[in-house]
Amino acid sequence: MHVLVTGGAGFIGSHTVVALLERGHDVTIADDFDNSSPEVINRIEQITGIRPALAEVDLRDEEAFDAAFATTAPDAVIHFAGLKSVGESSIDPLRYYEHNLSSTFSLLNAMKKHGVRTLVFSSSATVYGEGQEPPYGEDGGPLDANNPYGMTKVMLERILSDVADAEPGWHIALLRYFNPIGAHESGLIGEDPKGVPNNLVPYVLQVAIGRRPHVSIYGDDYPTADGTGERDYIHIADLAEGHVAALEKIVAIEGARAWNLGTGQGTSVKQLIAAVESASGIRIPAVIAPRRAGDLPRSWADTSRAEAELGWRATRDIADMARDGWRWQSQNPRGFDSVD
Ligand code: UFG
Repeated sequence: MHVLVTGGAGFIGSHTVVALLERGHDVTIADDFDNSSPEVINRIEQITGIRPALAEVDLRDEEAFDAAFATTAPDAVIHFAGLKSVGESSIDPLRYYEHNLSSTFSLLNAMKKHGVRTLVFSSSATVYGEGQEPPYGEDGGPLDANNPYGMTKVMLERILSDVADAEPGWHIALLRYFNPIGAHESGLIGEDPKGVPNNLVPYVLQVAIGRRPHVSIYGDDYPTADGTGERDYIHIADLAEGHVAALEKIVAIEGARAWNLGTGQGTSVKQLIAAVESASGIRIPAVIAPRRAGDLPRSWADTSRAEAELGWRATRDIADMARDGWRWQSQNPRGFDSVD
């Protein structure tokens, strides 16, 4: 298939592009490099020997995007492009709703116009909200989120389901990611947050490399084994392979279908820090800080639907995630800016 990957230069996007190319698919990346680096394209070429085509465009520019879409003429789309910071979304909700919704409307209009009906959408475990208990199953209850970023995912899942219900011929996969971490095993691509990282693992890796003095553990009085928050961390390479499996499956399923992409295992903040310490051989100073507003004590996936229907399951463990994350960070201390 020829797949248009929006946001294909980002963390999840770039690893998925590698997985698609390795499976023999053709790829065009649509990205405006607003929160990613053009160097990613060189790295993808280094890993796969194939340079993916690039449409440098902001999806919200409907006219420019439509023209790029028409030139690309894809068979299917994987849609990653969008804003993704939970904290930022609470400070500037309007920007988040405007950006994530309007870019998806632009995409859907182009798909409709050009007769492309196969879409894999980047959703999030955040849609399980606070009303459910782990493990989260896809049909566990109504979707909800306690921040504007998460609510854009809830809204977009609903919009995409309505579109698929209203008109025959759509094939839409809604992929709910748990906590993607790690990096490609080559160390050539990985997560490269701009500014101070919001998420635990990029922060811990920056402490390990000496860019930050210590990590704050947000709460050690949760009702968990060691008192710190538990999450379902999934290796980015497993997540990328999950996208390829979902794409290849959804072409045979009409309508919209949700799948969790996680491991089904919870790991605590302290366990995660210990895994990075053993992968790097570096002690990570940590201080206990108050709980972060909006954090759940525990979150992990029920993975049975993805296993049964996609024939996919995560195979890499926390030690693999820490080792590959550390390889990326140590080879690229300042991320993609490490390149001269
Ligand atoms: N944490 C710390 N210190 C830090 C950062 C995080 O102790 O400096 C803790 C958090 O309290 C939490 C765990 O580490 O217990 C993981 O936090 P992350 O910020 O890495 O990830 P979240 O689970 O909060 O959020 C992630 C994605 C969201 C997505 C959500 C879905 O970042 O985009 O999973 O569950 F919405």
